[in-house]
Amino acid sequence: MNIAIGNDHAAVELKNHIKKYLEEKGHCVIDLGDNGTARLDYPVYAKKVADAVVTGQSDLGVLICGTGIGMSLAANKVPGIRAAVCSEPYSARLTRQHNNANIIAFGARVVGPAMAEMIVDEFLNAEFEGGRHQRRIDMITAIEQGNM
Ligand code: RB5
Repeated sequence: MNIAIGNDHAAVELKNHIKKYLEEKGHCVIDLGDNGTARLDYPVYAKKVADAVVTGQSDLGVLICGTGIGMSLAANKVPGIRAAVCSEPYSARLTRQHNNANIIAFGARVVGPAMAEMIVDEFLNAEFEGGRHQRRIDMITAIEQGNM
């Protein structure tokens, strides 16, 4: 799977940990984050990953900042993006199965490397269930397009 990953200064170490973890599992990781120590503006990286997902350059995205919240707020402004902040694996699985989330976000100041691995595993291994959930995704899209 092609996976775009992005981070700000709060998440350099965890981004590199997850990038290596995913590459070892055979995924192609597109690193759109930064490895510097200077303070960075997370919306820049959220937009890069969101664009990679909506254009099909990557199948799914991973965004990591201090909490995951700023990244998800910014990514969700890009039409077609459903970015979910998850701090544990159960929500990470359900946001694929029910919400068809295409980006997972989490915080390097919230979860450690082992929990982050479990979160991405559940997110990447789960599949959207469709059915009644598709109707709700269609409603989210209608809100996004000003049709609801
Ligand atoms: C940076 O200090 C922090 O605000 C950022 O990483 C993120 O947590 C924002 O939501």
